[in-house]
Amino acid sequence: MVEGMDGAHDMVLWKVEPQCSMAEADDFERLSRLLDRPRVKIERKLSFDERSLSELPVTGNLRPVDSYDSMCSPGAGRSVFDTPVSVARNSFEPHPMVGEAWDALRRSIVFFRGQPVGTIAAIDHASEEVLNYDQVFIRDFVPSAMAFLMNGEPEIVKNFLLKTLHLQSWEKRIDRFKLGEGVMPASFKVNHDPVRKTDTLTADFGESAIGRVAPVDSGFWWIILLRAYTKSTGDLSLAETPECQKGMRLILSLCLSEGFDTFPTLLCADGCSMIDRRMGVYGYPIEIQALFFMALRCALAMLKPDVEGKEFMERILTRLNALGYHMRSYFWLDFQQLNDIYRYKTEEYSHTAVNKFNVIPDSIPDWIFDFMPTRGGYFVGNVSPAKMDFRWFALGNCIAILSSLATPEQSVAIMDLIEERWEELVGVMPLKISYPALEGHEWSIVTGCDPKNTRWSYHNGGSWPVLLWLLTAACIKTGRPQIARRAIELAESRLWKDGWPEYYDGKLGRYIGKQARKFQTWSIAGYLVAKMMLEDPSHLGMISLEEDKVKKLPIRRSASWTA
Ligand code: GLC
Repeated sequence: MVEGMDGAHDMVLWKVEPQCSMAEADDFERLSRLLDRPRVKIERKLSFDERSLSELPVTGNLRPVDSYDSMCSPGAGRSVFDTPVSVARNSFEPHPMVGEAWDALRRSIVFFRGQPVGTIAAIDHASEEVLNYDQVFIRDFVPSAMAFLMNGEPEIVKNFLLKTLHLQSWEKRIDRFKLGEGVMPASFKVNHDPVRKTDTLTADFGESAIGRVAPVDSGFWWIILLRAYTKSTGDLSLAETPECQKGMRLILSLCLSEGFDTFPTLLCADGCSMIDRRMGVYGYPIEIQALFFMALRCALAMLKPDVEGKEFMERILTRLNALGYHMRSYFWLDFQQLNDIYRYKTEEYSHTAVNKFNVIPDSIPDWIFDFMPTRGGYFVGNVSPAKMDFRWFALGNCIAILSSLATPEQSVAIMDLIEERWEELVGVMPLKISYPALEGHEWSIVTGCDPKNTRWSYHNGGSWPVLLWLLTAACIKTGRPQIARRAIELAESRLWKDGWPEYYDGKLGRYIGKQARKFQTWSIAGYLVAKMMLEDPSHLGMISLEEDKVKKLPIRRSASWTA
């Protein structure tokens, strides 16, 4: 067990040994250093030390990747119409899909007053209903942004970050209710007036969205993208502007505020993330918790330790400590944990309870007993009083690896599970958004009879090519590029031919999604990013955070810092 953890360790529900790198003593030490001395330089260095080799995988079967030198050449002179560097750089023949994908990605670029500011969600001319697929979605733009950054084209990403920051300051209302100041929109649209020759923006903070849910993930993605931009370009000046600092603080104050919560996880409504319809993920969905953890770590690296910044840094550290502990202990499921839950006693009162959340063993779904391999594990979908959602969700588990919310052992186990359950989780088209699908009575109760989310379709066990880039990043981080290669090959056999669908249906993902858009931009960008990362694994640093090793070496660290 890690030194410095609080006494609660004795009462760990499951026999996880959370390698809680955010140990309290370390936090205390870091904080007191922060508050005692003018440590601006040291802090910044610590945060962006991640740029060094220290961020490369080093443990277990993790394989080191190249250095980051190549990432710090901004390539600022490139335009959005240039040949992709990734194609030009490689003398060997690139897959023909790569060129096609770049062309399609460039066609999706949205301009505001002549400047590229994002990419449209989908350009599907065949589809009768446009709905909001003609907008720039914050989450959808992330893989596009990664592709542009990896290709040395940071301009569009910077414009996007600034434009969305501007939108954040708008007053947002749903009927008579005013939303929190820091909320970022789910999407925005550029309206071109050909007569007046003007461009105006409209944004959707949830007031137009189906179900009227505000996107909790948008703000987190914004922070994560700001770090990726900073890391890729080496340009600290954007993140350091008072506007970006304030933007981060506003997002953080929405999720760090105190209330009635007894858990450090973030309470959410259904539909507040990529899964933007009712799918029974309300409560504490893994997707949001993992993004929350990652955004907190990214913000910590970018906040300036001025008066306001310091206060937030303290709050972030406290929360990271508690959130990491909670997730690693209570959301983790493997064969051993499952067996423990299966034998749980219920109705335990007092501090000594083993079954802290009173999970009733009878509520364990049948499928999990066959699904759970002896080797492997994952973070379950949700944990709250007497409710454990045992479903596996791709995005949350990949982000858990990338943010180092998962310990190195847990990261390896997540990849083991993907390998062991390849047919179920990957099938013929990477990657299932969630597993398994809800069916029959459960489907009608949980989704509210949603015809778009029928079993093995869309958010209900559908296969989403966009997730390929996150899977690839997780594979590289855990030293398993061969898994990514296998997944990319599957995508290459169909994606282009099928017209870059938004999602696939079926238990194996064999069918183009019933209502899937074609030329879905993030399917295109996700493929490109996966390819570029595999070609040049040093790109991983943009989206990956190493375990906070520094905190594990409190004594040696202090010696070197004072040196
Ligand atoms: C769907 C997806 C959502 C995505 C949007 C635009 O609503 O559920 O995650 O952002 O389409 O592609």
